[in-house]
Order: sequence, then C-alpha cells, then structure tokens
Amino acid sequence: MDANGGAAFTATDHAMMARALRLAERGAYTTKPNPMVGCVIAHGETVVGEGWHQRAGEPHAEVHALRDAGERAKGATAYVTLEPCAHTGRTGPCADALIAAGVSRVIAAMRDPFPQVDGAGFETLRAAGIGVASGLMETQARALNRGFLSRVERGRPWLRVKLATSLDGRSALASGESKWISGEASRMEVQHWRARSGAIVTGAGTVLADDPALTVRMGDDTPFVPPLRVVLDPGLATVARGRVREGDAPTLYLHAPDAKPPRGLLAQHAAVPLRDGRFDLHAVLRLLAERGVNEIQLEAGATLAGGFLSAGLVDEVLLYVAPVLLGERARPMFDGLAIDTMMQKLKMAIVETRYVGQDIRLLLRPEPST
Ligand SMILES: NC(=O)c1ccc[n+]([C@@H]2O[C@H](COP(=O)([O-])OP(=O)(O)OC[C@H]3O[C@@H](n4cnc5c(N)ncnc54)[C@H](OP(=O)(O)O)[C@@H]3O)[C@@H](O)[C@H]2O)c1
Repeated sequence: MDANGGAAFTATDHAMMARALRLAERGAYTTKPNPMVGCVIAHGETVVGEGWHQRAGEPHAEVHALRDAGERAKGATAYVTLEPCAHTGRTGPCADALIAAGVSRVIAAMRDPFPQVDGAGFETLRAAGIGVASGLMETQARALNRGFLSRVERGRPWLRVKLATSLDGRSALASGESKWISGEASRMEVQHWRARSGAIVTGAGTVLADDPALTVRMGDDTPFVPPLRVVLDPGLATVARGRVREGDAPTLYLHAPDAKPPRGLLAQHAAVPLRDGRFDLHAVLRLLAERGVNEIQLEAGATLAGGFLSAGLVDEVLLYVAPVLLGERARPMFDGLAIDTMMQKLKMAIVETRYVGQDIRLLLRPEPST
C-alpha cells in the first residue's frame, strides 16, 4: 500500500523504520499478549528519541520514545512499527501523546487490526493536522508480530511445531524413549523459542513418556514472561503427576467434556468439545486465543503433531535433525497423514537452515495445497 500521499518513502525513512523494528524485537520475550512495538523520533537523519514496548501494562513504545526525546520531539517525525493506539487501555492513547508532544509527521509500518484501534489512531492524528503515512516495511512488521496478528485477524494463535528427529525422520523409539535425539546445543536453543511463545502445548502421551517440565531455562537472567504450559489430556490421565505442574509457570489441562477434574486440582483446567471422539483442534486454538495466547509452540509426539498438521492448523515446523538413524520400528514425525498419491504430498517451504551444534535446524512452513 502506498499510503505516503503518493510520495515514495526515502532511504532515511527506511533506515529509521529498520531501527524501530529492531527496537520492537527487544520485547519478544516480554510483551505478550501485546504486540512488539518500536518507535524512533527523528529530525531528518538525527535520532532524538527511541523506545520500545517492554511489558503488557507498561507504557507503549511511543511514550518511551517521547520521554527520551523531550522538547526535541517538536516538529520531528515519529517512526512507529504499528499504528499508535487511540484508546485508553491500561495506558493512555499514544496518538494523544504524539499530538501533545508536537510531532509533525507519523510514519507507521502498518495499521493495527486490533478492533479498538483499526485506523482510529491515524484518524486522531490526521484530525490534529499531523501528516500520517503507513505501509513502510509492512512485510517485516507483519512478520515480527505474526503471533499477535494471527490471534487478532484469524482468531487463533500462530502454531509452531517443534520436533527433534533422526535423519530417517523418526521422533521416538517404539518404546516411547526419545531422550535425547538432538544435541545439547539444540536443546539450549529451544529455550529461546519457548521464551517468545505464549503457550507450550503438549499431549498426554508425551507427559507419560518424558515427564517434561516445559519451563524456560535460558541459563542467564534475560527477562521473560513464562509461557502457559498446556496439556491436552482427554481423560485427565496425567493430572496426578508430572513436572509440568511444578514451578512458577502456570499450567492448563484441557480435557474431554465428560472427564471430571479431581477435587483439589490446583492447575487450571477447561473442557474442549470433541469431533469424531477426539479434541476439536480448532476449538483448542480458539480457546487459547481467547486466553490471549499469540504464539504456540507444540512440543508433543507424532499423534498431536500429525493431528494439527492434518487439520491444516500448523503455521511452521521447527525441526532439529540429528545425524543419527533410529530405524524402521521407531515412531514417525507425524501420525495420521493419509497420503496415497504424489498429488497429495504435503509441500513445505524451507524458510531457514542452519547448523546448531551437530544438528541441522530447519524452519519450514507448509505451502497452501493447490
Ligand atoms: N522428538 C520430539 O521432538 C518429541 C517431542 C515430544 C514427544 N516426543 C515423543 O513422542 C511420544 C509421545 O507422543 P504420542 O504421539 O504418544 O502422544 P502426544 O502426541 O504427545 O499426545 C497425544 C494425546 O493427545 C490427545 N489428542 C486429543 N485430541 C487429539 C486430536 N484431535 N488429534 C491427536 N491427538 C489428540 C491424544 O488423545 P487419544 O488418547 O484419544 O489418542 C493423546 O492423549 C513419546 O515417545 C515422546 O518421547 C518426541
């Protein structure tokens, strides 16, 4: 969208917005359920203020940047990665703060689809005589907030399936043993993907086999908001035990409508409707979106990984391929994919590849079926 009144954005505009996007990313582990937002205030090539949204409930990026700029905000251009808000939530409207500070122009990367904003921020600014343009580096801004945008626009979180596999595509031995397929460097790196997620979702099968804690352990003092740990356990077969209930992070058990949570269960729990005798996985995602989850990391076995993939609900696959073979008796990566002809093959786009220790990490996105 060319929303700069027909004029092209300049190289300086791009450099400033790139800087604002980098600032926004600093909130990756802490802003959830809010979007990440960065703001740069500049006179030409001179930056006079910058800031980013750090935590939900705390000041927005614009407020930090305006405080940083002080009097120098007058007549400046504010570059912001998302439309400034126009409503009073836990903090006051940023559009009003920009007007009060006397900026002369606001350039945004994108409109905020959140119903209480959705163009109202731009309108407030324009009504006050401020020049407004939107759409600068929008692709990058959308990629940054893919979780938030997925929740607001599709009503479901962005779903990433994380799997460690052998070279022959196996996710566990037939016995259920899978510790460890990937190397230590991969397991360390997974912690950072966990930290940016709003929820880590697993299944009863994985709790029984591995007893994972599903907490974030980055090994340093990087601040993060602990993701919700979610166990999909239709019959509540695992509630009596498990490290997934321990520690500070909250835990939510999702169960079938007829399962009765035991009295005194301290963890949260909720019933999910069934479809053909199993969880309606669309309903699972809707429920988590309603609880403010932007991004899910699924760390389950082949049953759930295959279930979500077959339902067309997987947005990306984070695969750690270890240089080992587990043989034909081992479990696959995805159960239940009914593929009989080459026409039906499921295509994935490779977004990124890199070595992590001895493993190869692939980031894949399913391609729309043709
Ligand atoms: N390599 C890796 O990265 C990795 C990661 C995690 C786990 N694992 C391994 O995976 C194994 C466990 O996997 P698993 O496949 O047995 O269990 P799982 O996928 O972890 O959990 C399956 C659970 O989800 C339930 N479920 C409810 N609705 C469903 C639906 N619509 N579709 C699919 N499942 C649904 C299943 O119910 P039902 O009881 O009705 O089937 C079952 O209770 C273990 O050996 C573990 O070590 C490997």
